[in-house]
Amino acid sequence: MSPSATSEAAVASSSPPPRDLSQHYSIITKNRNPSKIKAFYKFARIPGISNFSGGMPNVKYFPFDTLEAQVSKADRWTPSPNDPLAETSTTTKKISGLSHATAPSGGGLLPDPDFEATSARITIPKVLNQPEPALKLDLSTALQYGLSEGYPPLYSFVRQFTRDVLHPNVPYKGGPEIIMTNGSTDGFSKVLELIVDPWYADVHPVADRPGFVCESFVFGNILSQAKPHGLQVVPVELDSQGMLAEGPGGLREVLENWDPKNGRRPHFIYTVTMGHNPTSGIQSVVRRKQLYAVASEYDLLIIEDEPYWYLQFPAARVEQAKARGLAVSQAEESYEFPKKSGFDFIDSLVPSYLNIDVDGRVIRLDTFSKTVAPGCRLGWITAQPAIIERFLRITEATTQQPSGFVQSLIAELIKGPQPAATVAAFNALSLKDKVIFSGWKMDGWVRWLAGLRGEYERRMVLMCSILEENTFQLKQSTPVRQTDAEWGVITKTRLLTFDWAHGGMFVWARIHFENHPLFEAKGVDIPVLDGPTLAVAFLIFTTHAPNLVLGSPGNIFSATPEIMAERGWRYARLCFAAESDENIESGSRRYVSALQKFWRIKDVADIEKLVKELPTS
Ligand SMILES: Cc1ncc(COP(=O)(O)O)c(C=O)c1O
Repeated sequence: MSPSATSEAAVASSSPPPRDLSQHYSIITKNRNPSKIKAFYKFARIPGISNFSGGMPNVKYFPFDTLEAQVSKADRWTPSPNDPLAETSTTTKKISGLSHATAPSGGGLLPDPDFEATSARITIPKVLNQPEPALKLDLSTALQYGLSEGYPPLYSFVRQFTRDVLHPNVPYKGGPEIIMTNGSTDGFSKVLELIVDPWYADVHPVADRPGFVCESFVFGNILSQAKPHGLQVVPVELDSQGMLAEGPGGLREVLENWDPKNGRRPHFIYTVTMGHNPTSGIQSVVRRKQLYAVASEYDLLIIEDEPYWYLQFPAARVEQAKARGLAVSQAEESYEFPKKSGFDFIDSLVPSYLNIDVDGRVIRLDTFSKTVAPGCRLGWITAQPAIIERFLRITEATTQQPSGFVQSLIAELIKGPQPAATVAAFNALSLKDKVIFSGWKMDGWVRWLAGLRGEYERRMVLMCSILEENTFQLKQSTPVRQTDAEWGVITKTRLLTFDWAHGGMFVWARIHFENHPLFEAKGVDIPVLDGPTLAVAFLIFTTHAPNLVLGSPGNIFSATPEIMAERGWRYARLCFAAESDENIESGSRRYVSALQKFWRIKDVADIEKLVKELPTS
């Protein structure tokens, strides 16, 4: 199915334009002017002009005559159902079948497809005789200095995908614009440059300190990026739908009770709303609307960082209920926006903040890191045009543009070779036979995303079903009372609590160290074996043979030292994305077996010995 809306029809023409939010810009952003060199580029496009102006190297001397790759076809991976309850098809069976040991070889996952049959060749020629920049998919453009918004063939595709398919309901006049980045880390770094004036403890008054709001557990890299700017990290409580808008610890309470003596009230939110890293939550439209209303009232920008967007797992709700013997709850709500993307898969996903962004206060970060590969270092920012214009100025003076190698390879993968006449002109220059690859196009790109979702969803089901069987320690003990003599007494100790991941790549597991037999026991070298100590000991224990498995400690995702001390240690983040199919199953089994064994440790000396193995730096 292809998109029903066209780019221009996709945006609301009668609605008001986005608000001017330039009060948020940093001084450095306000001071930025368009690059004088780039302004010259338009003259360079005058037909027949001899361009002695620029400092560009000669294309002839680029040592690449073509760029070729063997790539996957769009349909290599099998999608999973958008609505697991509505579809009782084989696909559904495959999802649930994965969780059982009776599933086919390969550790319970589906066998890999035939890689040869599902791959094809792409070739990017050196020079294409093509006047239209969006179609000129060649190395002479890709490897030259180019436009900071992005390499035209890729930029035009991503812009259309973003406006027509991913967010067809952006409510402000004209709709959003995009700019390519070197991935979301780069995107966030540019956001900081855009809106943060650095603050230094010994130089500036405390009352001037800028701050931002984030979930109380957060992707640690964000803190590493933000803190050197002097930004204060202001945590907001979260549940399975991410940040709370109302109630204790929610966004409104945090902003309403802000004490200006502690710094400026935060002026932006950093949030991951889909497959939250590390907690794996999924945010409904209702929650988004509540948060957006508070953000609007207090004039906060919303930075929506969404690397896991396409990994929304409807199977989690169904499989979790089945595994726990509960009735399957209804899906959260239906969100009726006037325009559809035209793709069932995309329409089944919860829509972005951009679809309710009447003010134009949402800056969204996307990346190819999880949909193609992290080493691409490629992504894009979507926001109202005036904000994108400022990002363009920042990009011109910093990274200039993402790598031409990557941009051209991704463009060729998705768009395929150019029209026959153009290709014929290229072929006339070349002696080599070219294998023509049709390219994924929009249909293929969405099909690829749906296939990826299927793969990760199956992995999630497999890991969660193994964890599910091991949330308790069961112990048979000798009855104490005479009257119970003929009964076997089973005690049940809770070891693990978790939600089946509703999106993303992680399970966020709470480990009940407070139920360990040695919790709060007096040690010899360590005064008291408290929760954080047991958490460290368990982490090290899991790395010992035969356990040999490693989760991420919850500590490192804590937004503040207080959250880390109070509850970060209770959690472990388990990623079901990176390991081989086999290791998802065997590694998960070793993890739960390590948990059971750890609970049988009765000697404080054993715990102390484990803790001593912790590297000190
Ligand atoms: C929430 C979040 N944002 C950003 C990134 C990094 O994205 P990129 O590779 O595009 O810089 C990650 C990677 O794990 C992430 O989890």
